[in-house]
Amino acid sequence: MSTSQVQPNIFSSVIDLKSLDSTEIYSLFDFSLKLKLNDEDIQSQLLQLGSGSHNINKSSIRKTAALLFFEPSTRTRFSFESACVRAGVHPLILDGSVGTSLEKGETIEDTILNIEAMMPLFFVIRAPDNLNLIELATKMKTPVLSAGWGRLGHPTQALLDALTIFEKYREVKNKKILFVGDIKHSRVVSSHLELAEILNYDIGFCAPDEMLPESLSFKSKVQYFTKLQDGLPWADVVIALRVQKERHTGLSFDMSKYISEFNLNSENIKKIKKEGLILHPGPINYGVELNQDILLDSRVVIMEQVRNGVFIREAIIHRILGRQNK
Ligand code: CP
Repeated sequence: MSTSQVQPNIFSSVIDLKSLDSTEIYSLFDFSLKLKLNDEDIQSQLLQLGSGSHNINKSSIRKTAALLFFEPSTRTRFSFESACVRAGVHPLILDGSVGTSLEKGETIEDTILNIEAMMPLFFVIRAPDNLNLIELATKMKTPVLSAGWGRLGHPTQALLDALTIFEKYREVKNKKILFVGDIKHSRVVSSHLELAEILNYDIGFCAPDEMLPESLSFKSKVQYFTKLQDGLPWADVVIALRVQKERHTGLSFDMSKYISEFNLNSENIKKIKKEGLILHPGPINYGVELNQDILLDSRVVIMEQVRNGVFIREAIIHRILGRQNK
C-alpha cells in the first residue's frame, strides 16, 4: 500500500449497512480475500517497516484510531485492533469504564467528543442501546465504525458472516440463511436484515416465541420455523445465536426445554445440507446453542468467521482511509 493512495475521507461511517450497495460490498469481499491471500506479504512489509524499509511511509504508523468498547468484547475488539495494525494505524483502546472518567460521571458522549479532539483517524465504537450513535456521529467530523450497538446492529459481523458465505459459494444472492435461537436480542440479526435487502438473500428464523422480535415489520421478509427439523433442511447456512442472558430482564424461559428443542448436536445437524455451512458469531455457550462435538464437522466454519473478521475490518479501514483495492 503506497501512502500516495491515502486520501482520508472523513465523512464515511459504518453504523448501519443501509447506505452501502451490493457493488461496494462485493468489492469489499474481493478486497478482504486479497488481503487474506496477501497476508504474508503484508506481515513482511510491516516487519520491514520496523527495520527501516522505505516501502511504506513511516508516518502512516503514527496515525491513530480510537477503539472504544463500552460493552465487553473479545473477537470484535481484537480483530479491529489487528486490522488497524495491519493497515498501519495505531489503535488506542478504551476497554470499559474502569480507570476512565466515566467512573467520575462523565458521559459516554463527552468521552467520545473529548477523544475526537485528540484527532484519531476514525473511531471504532461498541455502544449500549441507550447511546444514540447515529445522532452522535452527526456531531462528529471523524468516521465512526460500529463494533456492535446494543441490540440495534453489528454491521461488520453481518459483513464477515456474508464474506464467509461468499468465500465458500462465491455468491450470497438467493442463499437461505437460518438464524436459530435468541433472535429478539440479536444485533447480528438486525444487521443481516439490512444486508439481506442489499445482497438479496433469504432469512429464516427458528426460535421459541419468547425469543422472537416483538416488531413484525419485517415479517413478510422472513420464513418462520418452529422446529429445527423443518428449518435445518431449508437452509444453506445455519447461524446459531448466543442466548443473551444479560439482556433477558423480565424474560422467563425454560432453558432445558430450549436445549431439547434448539440445541444443534451431532444428530440433528444431519438434516443440514451436505454443502451447507454452520456459523455462530460467538461467544458460544456450549451445550446450549450447540454441542462441542459438532465443531469437527467440516460444515462448521466458526473459526473461519473469526479469521475473516480481521480481513473485512482491514478492508473497511483501508476504504475509510481512501485506499483502493491492491
Ligand atoms: N461476535 C462478537 O461480536 O464477539 P465479541 O462480543 O467477542 O466481540
